[in-house]
Amino acid sequence: MSEDLSGRRIAHYRIDGVLGRGGMSVTYKATDVRLGRKVALKVIGEHLAPDAEFRERFVDEARNTSAIDHANIVPLYDFDEVEGLLYIAMRLVDGQDLSGHIKEGPLTPARTLTLLAQVAEALDMLHGKGLVHLDVKPANVLVTTKEGTREHVYVADFGLTRRGATGHRTRTGDFLGSPTYAAPEHLRGEPVDGRTDQYALACMLFACLSGRPPFQGGVQEVIQGHLGQTVPALSQLVALPPAIDDVIRKGTSKDPSQRFPNCAELINAARVALAGVAQSSAPAQIGPQSGSIPAQSPMSGPTPVQQGQYQGGYQQQPLSDPVRLRPPNQVGVSAFTSNQKERPPWFAPVIAAAVAIVVIIIVVIILSPRDEPARQPKTSSSPTLNIGDEPTSKKPLPTSVPVRTSR
Ligand SMILES: Nc1ncnc2c1ncn2[C@@H]1O[C@H](COP(=O)(O)OP(=O)(O)O)[C@@H](O)[C@H]1O
Ligand SMILES: [Mg+2]
Repeated sequence: MSEDLSGRRIAHYRIDGVLGRGGMSVTYKATDVRLGRKVALKVIGEHLAPDAEFRERFVDEARNTSAIDHANIVPLYDFDEVEGLLYIAMRLVDGQDLSGHIKEGPLTPARTLTLLAQVAEALDMLHGKGLVHLDVKPANVLVTTKEGTREHVYVADFGLTRRGATGHRTRTGDFLGSPTYAAPEHLRGEPVDGRTDQYALACMLFACLSGRPPFQGGVQEVIQGHLGQTVPALSQLVALPPAIDDVIRKGTSKDPSQRFPNCAELINAARVALAGVAQSSAPAQIGPQSGSIPAQSPMSGPTPVQQGQYQGGYQQQPLSDPVRLRPPNQVGVSAFTSNQKERPPWFAPVIAAAVAIVVIIIVVIILSPRDEPARQPKTSSSPTLNIGDEPTSKKPLPTSVPVRTSR
């Protein structure tokens, strides 16, 4: 979306610049000129403003955000519409979202736990109110150091948040959102609940500790990963205890009933698994713990992603955001089933040719014994019906057949 309202005014907000863009809206840094305070102003995309469904979603987002009062959820200030533009004004979080931090490389285990414990707390509270966020990902986790001595986290973007198990798709049934952190049941169009967000949180845990999301590549590769593959072992990518692999595996179980009872339990289990390394001020070294890569100095900055080890997740990520995917044919039946394979380009012509040949053969078989003799009576001096010549023929004997005649 290319629109940029910077420099313009919407109601009593002066738009100062772009904070971020999504598929449905642009979030600006703005000034509330009445109160003289900075705000974040999320404005629905001009191209979607006339779309009743998206307007409704935006209104839902405002309601959901305002319904939640939690230290780790970005507070809503205002919601209105001016000249056909719907907007939400909220607290401006002075910092960077988590995707920006992960781009710089893996986070230390201690920092990961500090940040994600706050996300878990916000999500569990949301789930306790019967809401599911459905777009838990680093870009929707805002991090600031300006509000206290430690980094404070705000969960943002309630654009896809839904109450209960249904309604998490568009009216046409499309999956809407980013598949990079999406749980299999969400991608399949099956019922969702707090465990769906927990799956995404476990994927974020993986991303914070390794610098890349668990499944990379194009949209279909990522979806197939979530649907059918086990998340890669983190301890094979970075020098962390293998116990963290079990935690991530449980949090990303394909079957929601196999996951942790809530998000806080996932983070507690991660804390236990990382107990031996959580005090280190260095991110986990790239490569398995038992590998030959020397440990990094604790005072150095984030570990750079080494060339050839793996591709940096976000830099390489070709997914646009959000993704709108054609839905499964019916709820519960996946359009993305793991055994669904792309057919090679020659498949259709070969099948068509084979069908045509079979049809021609059938037509020839049906027509030839009946008509051929009539059109081309054999001139042989001894026309014969050699019944044994067509062993496979089950047809009744033709009515007009040249037979051996006796003159
Ligand atoms: N309150 C805020 N303060 C600072 N930055 C924000 C705030 N809200 C959103 N952003 C930034 O803008 C981006 C897009 O906002 P978001 O609400 O996630 O919209 P979208 O639905 O387009 O993803 C976020 O990823 C974040 O970087
Ligand atoms: Mg967002």
